[in-house]
Amino acid sequence: MKNPLCEMFGIDIPVFAFSHCRDVVAAVSKAGGMGVLGMARMGPERLREELRWIDEHVDRKPYGIDVLMPTTYSDAGDLKYDIDKLLPPEHVAFVRDMIDAAGVPPLPPAEKDEIIRTLLSELSFTPRESMEMIEIALEHPIKLIVNALGSPPPELVEKAHAKDIRVAALAGKAKHAIKHKERGCDFVIAVGNEAGGHTGPISSMVLWPNIADAVAPMPVLGAGGVSRGRHLSAAMALGCAGVWCGSIWLKTVESEVMPEIKERLFAAEADDAVLTRAVTGKPCRTLRNAFTDAYDQPGALEPLPAPLQNILWWAEGRTRVERVRKAEFLTYPVGQVVGNMSEPTAVKQVVYDIMDEFLETQSRLADMLE
Ligand SMILES: Cc1cc2nc3c(=O)[nH]c(=O)nc-3n(C[C@H](O)[C@H](O)[C@H](O)COP(=O)(O)O)c2cc1C
Repeated sequence: MKNPLCEMFGIDIPVFAFSHCRDVVAAVSKAGGMGVLGMARMGPERLREELRWIDEHVDRKPYGIDVLMPTTYSDAGDLKYDIDKLLPPEHVAFVRDMIDAAGVPPLPPAEKDEIIRTLLSELSFTPRESMEMIEIALEHPIKLIVNALGSPPPELVEKAHAKDIRVAALAGKAKHAIKHKERGCDFVIAVGNEAGGHTGPISSMVLWPNIADAVAPMPVLGAGGVSRGRHLSAAMALGCAGVWCGSIWLKTVESEVMPEIKERLFAAEADDAVLTRAVTGKPCRTLRNAFTDAYDQPGALEPLPAPLQNILWWAEGRTRVERVRKAEFLTYPVGQVVGNMSEPTAVKQVVYDIMDEFLETQSRLADMLE
């Protein structure tokens, strides 16, 4: 494909995959796209292991990493492990009581502290933690660093460029994209409101062309609601150079998602992917469940700011409900494309299906002009 991003990375098709799962990252890169590993849910040791594994399995194809580096988070330091000091008691009680009332057993007292410490040590989302993780990643042949939740710091851009690594950032508004460009990013990712995970207020249809115009001639990836070839065609028609997808990989046979959550994804409709602050403290599109519903009830507490709400949900809620697979509390960040998921598919098949439908769409559109 004649395309600036294919040329930038030497890839066949401009399909970029965000995933927390190393198998997905390697499989997308091997299928001709570009896998990008989300590092926010792992500590340094696990990151080393994951990157070593990717290096061994990616057949020398390019891949990247994604880091959550918000400029506004306060660093809880070691306090993050003492959740009773860190979190307001009424918030802890709100979640604890809700999960107790559903009959979910508490964590075994002898293991509780260790479980929570291990879990929380794997959440890396402060600037300090993110920089430590990037240093580790720079020891590997990564070709791209993507920053979520803000413009990358100038020293990061400089460091990456010195090693011939490209830098990009997610944007939910044109003014953010312009700032990323001014910071020296090589391209931006325009994330529409339909997206899974943290997302902005503007839908892809409106956002993509606005950002493409705002930063032209810099390439833009369209994200938010992309799961098939017609979406890739639409992104190109709206001025993007390619697409960035996150949700679609969750349904793949390779994905990290536990079978019980996959079942819930397959049963969900598009409007079950709700935008809520209940999970992380920032607007995050997530599969609706009993926990997100509880925050919508009259009289419910306002979620804590990020990252405290994230720590609260992981430490008090998610760990407990996932241990016993309590169905009504199982959830995962996912976008509106969840309504299009009905069965597990191999990553390679997803990429090939996108390309097939893209080609079919292009020829259908070309025929219209004859
Ligand atoms: C399970 C999941 C976790 C995500 N976590 C992150 C993250 O850690 N960093 C990030 O930049 N984006 C994250 N995202 C958002 C994606 O980068 C991307 O913007 C989004 O998935 C695109 O929309 P789509 O879900 O409709 O494909 C996540 C998305 C999902 C589905």
